Amino acid sequence: MSVPHISTGSLRLRFLLAVMLWVVLGVAGIWFTANRVFEKHIELMYHEELEVHVRELARLTELDNDGRPQLQRPLSDPRYEEPLSGFYWQVTVPGQPTLRSDSMTRGQLDESVAHSPGIAHAVEAGPTGPAITYGLLERGPAGQTIHIVIATDQSELDEDIASFTGELAVWLAVLALLLLATGLAIISFGLSPLNRLGQAIARLRTAQAQRLEGRYPSEIAPLVTDLNEYIRQNSEIVARSRVQAGNLAHSLRTPLAILTDEAEGIMQNAQSAASGRVLLDQVEKMRQQIDYQLARVRSAAGASGPGSRSMLPEVAIPVINAMRRLHPEKQFVLTGPDAPIVVAADPVNLAELLSILLDNAGKWAAQMVQLEVSRPAADRVRIEISDDGPGMSEDQIAKACEIGTRFDHTKPGSGLGLAMARDICGDIGTQLVLRPGAEGLIASAELPAGDTSAQPGG
Ligand SMILES: Nc1ncnc2c1ncn2[C@@H]1O[C@H](COP(=O)(O)OP(=O)(O)O)[C@@H](O)[C@H]1O
Ligand SMILES: [Mg+2]
Repeated sequence: MSVPHISTGSLRLRFLLAVMLWVVLGVAGIWFTANRVFEKHIELMYHEELEVHVRELARLTELDNDGRPQLQRPLSDPRYEEPLSGFYWQVTVPGQPTLRSDSMTRGQLDESVAHSPGIAHAVEAGPTGPAITYGLLERGPAGQTIHIVIATDQSELDEDIASFTGELAVWLAVLALLLLATGLAIISFGLSPLNRLGQAIARLRTAQAQRLEGRYPSEIAPLVTDLNEYIRQNSEIVARSRVQAGNLAHSLRTPLAILTDEAEGIMQNAQSAASGRVLLDQVEKMRQQIDYQLARVRSAAGASGPGSRSMLPEVAIPVINAMRRLHPEKQFVLTGPDAPIVVAADPVNLAELLSILLDNAGKWAAQMVQLEVSRPAADRVRIEISDDGPGMSEDQIAKACEIGTRFDHTKPGSGLGLAMARDICGDIGTQLVLRPGAEGLIASAELPAGDTSAQPGG
């Protein structure tokens, strides 16, 4: 049986505490009642036995011609002959020497307990400590009083009880351990659907599944069904919104093209050239916004959602290869860790981010573009893209991520790349950092490291 993992505030802890309380109460109850019952029982047996012995002693006792007490034969229990065995008897006739058992090599018994023909008992001092003493009074042929006394050490009874209690304690400890072990097994068995649910949620989060899979007990099955329905509705809403955003953007393109034409026409006229210019600028801004939103919609549609994992440098390799074809006269160098790193980012998003930054570096580099993957801390992975081009001034860097911003119109572009790169970094939960390098520009981002145990996608 595997001991289940326990953390504070967990269901397991609650069940475990309940089981422990239950076992402790149960075992304590058994201990108490068993001891009481046994003690009563053994005491009763003891007293019955002593009564039998005192009667036997009375029967065997006779007085000889001189009135001295003597036994017809020894008592049937041999312990009365063994010295200081804890089992003693004594017969006293006033004026005669006292007759004692062979076991009584010293001491004497108090005959006062033998004061009536009926059997009486008391705890008195005996030769070897406190003794349970039984006695009865008989009359001899000439009317003499004969005190007949039997005594057994109290410790005999106590030892019997103690040995029982000791044995009972061992058995009850074994029972308690067994009950606890079965309790743990039951908890583990009972909560295993929750473990499976946890794994199903992990698969969902790492995009290995589209819904919570598996069969669950009736208590949590409705919850799982509801969650699945919620997930389905949610992704439907997201998908529908994407389509609507795309449709909206597309539907605006034709009117914008017409507006552009009109604006250019207005610019032909020398008197209204300035207004034409303003119109054209505004139309261009609208077009950029639309292109940007369309690009975002497209890349978001490919991404598998939050919680997904990707591997570095694996994800970067096809991007670098594409860049080498796109900018054949530039050199792309990848430096990275010896072992692959898992990043808590969607592979589609990560590839897009890398291709935007590598494409910019490729466009403006003199010769060299470098992508460096490093791990500054156990929970962070850093990607850094540097080139040896003209770079950007601090002012330019401050504005570079705005939609449509372009500083160098000699190279082709839309001015959307860095805006998208910044948004993708936001989606991943990090920030895009641009800074001037020794030469050229350095773009970097620190991504959260993924859980290496999770199955990476990418
Ligand atoms: N690595 C770079 N070196 C120099 N300038 C750059 C670099 N990356 C981006 N820029 C500047 O920032 C502007 C915005 O970049 P971006 O948003 O990717 O748009 P685009 O690449 O379409 O022009 C570019 O037009 C360019 O002037
Ligand atoms: Mg660009």
